Amino acid sequence: MDIKALLAKMTLEEKLAQMSQFNANCLVPDSEGGVTGPAKTLELTEEEISATGSTLNFVGAAEMKRVQDTHLKSDRLQIPLIFMQDVIHGYRTIYPIPLAMGATFDTELMRDCAEMAAKESAAAGVQVTFSPMVDLVRDARWGRCMESTGEDVYLNGLMAKAQIEGYQGDFTKKHNIAACVKHFACYGAAESGRDYNLVDMSNHTLREYYLPAFRTSVDAGVEMLMTSFNTLGGVPSSGNKWLVQDILREEWGFDKIVISDYNAFREMKTHGFCKDNYECAERAFAAGTDIEMMSNCYIKFGKQLLEEGKVTMEQIDESVLRILALKDKLGLFDNPYACADTEEEKRLFLSEEHRALCRTAAEKSAVLLKNDGALPFSEDIRRVAVIGPYADIGMIGFWSCMGREEEAVSVLAGIKAALPAAEVRYAAGCDGALLARTDTELLDEALELAKWADAVVLCLGEGRNMSGEGNSRADISLSDAQCELIRGVSRINARSVVTLFSGRPLALGNIIDDCHAVIEMWQPGTEGGSALANLILARCDFEARLPMSFPYHVGQAPIYYNRFRTGRPKKNDTKAGAYISQYLDYPNAPLFPFGYGLSYADFEVAPPKVSSPLMHRGETVTVSAEVKNIGERDGSTLVQLYIRDMVASVVRPVKELRGFARVSLKAGESKTVEFTLDEEALKFYNINEEFVAESGEFSVFVGLSSAVDECVQFTLE
Ligand code: BGC
Repeated sequence: MDIKALLAKMTLEEKLAQMSQFNANCLVPDSEGGVTGPAKTLELTEEEISATGSTLNFVGAAEMKRVQDTHLKSDRLQIPLIFMQDVIHGYRTIYPIPLAMGATFDTELMRDCAEMAAKESAAAGVQVTFSPMVDLVRDARWGRCMESTGEDVYLNGLMAKAQIEGYQGDFTKKHNIAACVKHFACYGAAESGRDYNLVDMSNHTLREYYLPAFRTSVDAGVEMLMTSFNTLGGVPSSGNKWLVQDILREEWGFDKIVISDYNAFREMKTHGFCKDNYECAERAFAAGTDIEMMSNCYIKFGKQLLEEGKVTMEQIDESVLRILALKDKLGLFDNPYACADTEEEKRLFLSEEHRALCRTAAEKSAVLLKNDGALPFSEDIRRVAVIGPYADIGMIGFWSCMGREEEAVSVLAGIKAALPAAEVRYAAGCDGALLARTDTELLDEALELAKWADAVVLCLGEGRNMSGEGNSRADISLSDAQCELIRGVSRINARSVVTLFSGRPLALGNIIDDCHAVIEMWQPGTEGGSALANLILARCDFEARLPMSFPYHVGQAPIYYNRFRTGRPKKNDTKAGAYISQYLDYPNAPLFPFGYGLSYADFEVAPPKVSSPLMHRGETVTVSAEVKNIGERDGSTLVQLYIRDMVASVVRPVKELRGFARVSLKAGESKTVEFTLDEEALKFYNINEEFVAESGEFSVFVGLSSAVDECVQFTLE
């Protein structure tokens, strides 16, 4: 399509409508005909509706076709709509939430899952997914931690790239869809972990931690970027010229589409940043947002702003060309339905192949936090009690698109299927509500069952809507009812495992000692129950490691491993002293640090060695360490490499992840792992915001979590 020629035919009104996005139900007349319902609330005219450029929130191929048909019947220039959707961890077949996928440290698996989601989405008529979310997360109170791959900037970058590759491929396959990275910027740093709250941070922290995954996404060729709801230093992102123009467009050279978040233009009024919708449009134009999601500022005030010289036709044309270019790339001018196909939906949704991939992902994302020997369960157990509010329900998690709980394998169903010869009984044990108190009847019933059973699986934590957008928590510990249930069952039956479902780290300081074994299952998706059964029976091992630190207590939040150094650090985190950076009542360290996780096999890493004590610029050093399987089972572990820049012109983090490798070892076997470090790996933003490696000493740590102490030094000259 000659999009420039097409642009030349467009009226200003049509251009502004391309720059506007509304829910699908705004674009089809309801039974009364004409402009009614949500479109009326937005005061849209029939002309504006017919010329709209894109839509979101629709259900499947049939509806997509209906909406596209309705649109094309009235769109003067026959410009098809683009259909966008939040496909966050699967479309209908649901894989584990992104935070869980972070725990796999497996970029290939991440790519495969995203590609699976793209296949189902494309069949359902989706051409753009509002994913990946690459917001760095440090405060487990924030409900949207579940959408991130965690607290580490290096891992997040790798995972962002893998997702983009999985969705977009190279746009040569019919199921390739466009990705939209979000939320630019710093949404994950909402003060107090409360969603939509303000963000205020230094450029040092912004550059160091919050921007890199966006930069990686831009470099990986992401087609779209969404701005965030929050303010940053007093400016809402929808109107933040510095973020969008100076950093994203000019510094990084991003020339694709920028979209706002849902209704975020108009929220600039609520922020007290704009007086009215006219000013919202003015600020958003100045920032350079191309598409306004679910509000009407551009469409209503673009003309006036143009006449008053507050926006130029060149700027509007540039935005419209970006939008038309994506439509062209997606092939919509040739086929406005793209891949929407109800037959293909039936073939792909919940197919055995897709379920198998989700099962693998759920197995590889479950983190074994504690095991006093209660696990694994023997294949010979005959009486199993499955207890808890999340035992008999498919745990697909928030943002599970078209996923349905009833299509997912619950723990109860998974264990029954895995152990057909066993008797498997269920009890709720307690209410799942956040602040639930003990119900003695439910508790007694559960304790009876625990007495009867050879082994017990407790299914606790958070339900689907206890994390996700708008679902922040001030207290991230388990309810009294859940704690009492754990204590009761653990006392009665030593072969009991606490299985936690959650969209965030939970504070387990008050209960961990009472548990025999603890598994963090996150929200594992369609095949969660089968994966858990395979894990507890040791049909597969635990491979995942934490992508976010788990605190003892919520008061430690935000807590993360890669913090900047202080002048009065606490040594070893054990010895108390006066006037040092510490809490009086809790350790500084988390209960379970980033990178931590157990396996059935057991490993040891010898102190690392470096190929040379000197690294000249442009050269590399090799860091090696011997890893030994000291357990009785064969298995694999994740060996992690962290660096510390000992002295620099700005304070550097205590540790920074710079590499990881999965190592498989037979019982008793050893292997040497090697990592190569180059100058790039030592770079950071100095005080002048230049990305440089400064000469001087570096420590390198190699171990099995971010709490590793063993290190070796080299000097960059
Ligand atoms: C969320 C975005 C999402 C959008 C569209 C917003 O409320 O913040 O992440 O993509 O809705 O559904």
